[in-house]
Amino acid sequence: MTTPTTDTRTFDISAIPADGVGLEVVDAGRTVLDTLARESKGEFSFSWRELDWGSDYYARHGRMMPEDGPDQVSDSDAIYFGAVGWPTVPDHISLWGLRLRLCQGFDQWANVRPVTFLPGVESPLRKADTTPLDWVVVRENSEGEYAGFGGRNFNGRPGQGEVATQSAVFTEVGCERIIRFAFDLARTRPRRKLSSVTKSNAQQYGMVLWDEVFERVTADYPDVETESVLVDAMSAKFILHPEDLDVVVASNLNADILSDLGSALAGSLGLAASANLNPERRFPSMFEPVHGSAPNIAGKGLCNPIGALGSAALMLDHLGLPDAAKSLQRGIEETCRRGVLTPDVGGSATTQDVTNAVIDSLN
Ligand code: NAI
Ligand code: MG
Repeated sequence: MTTPTTDTRTFDISAIPADGVGLEVVDAGRTVLDTLARESKGEFSFSWRELDWGSDYYARHGRMMPEDGPDQVSDSDAIYFGAVGWPTVPDHISLWGLRLRLCQGFDQWANVRPVTFLPGVESPLRKADTTPLDWVVVRENSEGEYAGFGGRNFNGRPGQGEVATQSAVFTEVGCERIIRFAFDLARTRPRRKLSSVTKSNAQQYGMVLWDEVFERVTADYPDVETESVLVDAMSAKFILHPEDLDVVVASNLNADILSDLGSALAGSLGLAASANLNPERRFPSMFEPVHGSAPNIAGKGLCNPIGALGSAALMLDHLGLPDAAKSLQRGIEETCRRGVLTPDVGGSATTQDVTNAVIDSLN
């Protein structure tokens, strides 16, 4: 083991495994990250703070995390998150009480979800066998359909025609910052194309504002090819013409759905990584696999850790460690190429086997 030197950059990371397979994949990610740190010859190390927040915490305390939970992690360099949700707690309580509270409280307004086709992993798309596919979904992560705006029990007569409203909130500032972020990302990629996902034919207020902002911002990026596609057509395009995709920017709900579709097309929900970014770095950003807590396979050591490991690679990039990020991404690719795969992608390896194989493949 390399002992930290005075020059070692030590990153304070809050780990929140939360529920179900979140515990297994965060454990895998920490093992890999600590291995990378050991092998960095004193360049960097991690100081972990593990929080036991989640549905078990809820059973003991009646809430998903302490009242001052966000304050407890606000000075972290990053948050490494597992997944939240367990049958003992209604999903809207667990999600809002932990994940959304952190994302929205820390203004992590940009959610980056790469759709990565890995060697050795079979895609349900036949096209993927012959065509290189690689795109990234950029999700507006602070408002839109998940603004939490609405109410129920309007007439107070449950069972007698109760009314619920759920409004989406679109602000010009919110649209513009995510669209600019997506344009900037498109500029860093060889293809330089940005697709905006809309539904302005049916949603004539919020989505029309979204379109207008997209059109206005487009003028500042003449070097980026653009298109605007309705969300229903975009879901078909993901399957029929995925080779046309590069960066896809969409509202909170639309991108949530499309990114699950993208990860399923890449082979499994268990493969997909994501970064919830506060690009201004006023607050910590949060890195988590796209998948949920998968209660159907939790605790068996069979879940795929690749989504969480890919999220760790995104975290390394965010921390200014691009070489370590590349090394981890290569380790993931090499592991898949060698056929060390969990059952969700047709293999028989355990979570631990995959983790060990990634560690063996680092550099
Ligand atoms: P899910 O993502 O947990 O599972 C969907 C399917 O994918 C299941 O068949 C599951 O076995 C499989 N799967 C997921 N992750 C996997 C992995 N790492 N390896 C292999 N297979 C994997 O979504 P579901 O079932 O809709 O939700 C379960 C719980 O997770 C709910 O409580 C839900 O609210 C919560 N959830 C939390 C999220 C988060 O914390 N970011 C995101 C999505 C759901
Ligand atoms: Mg989702």
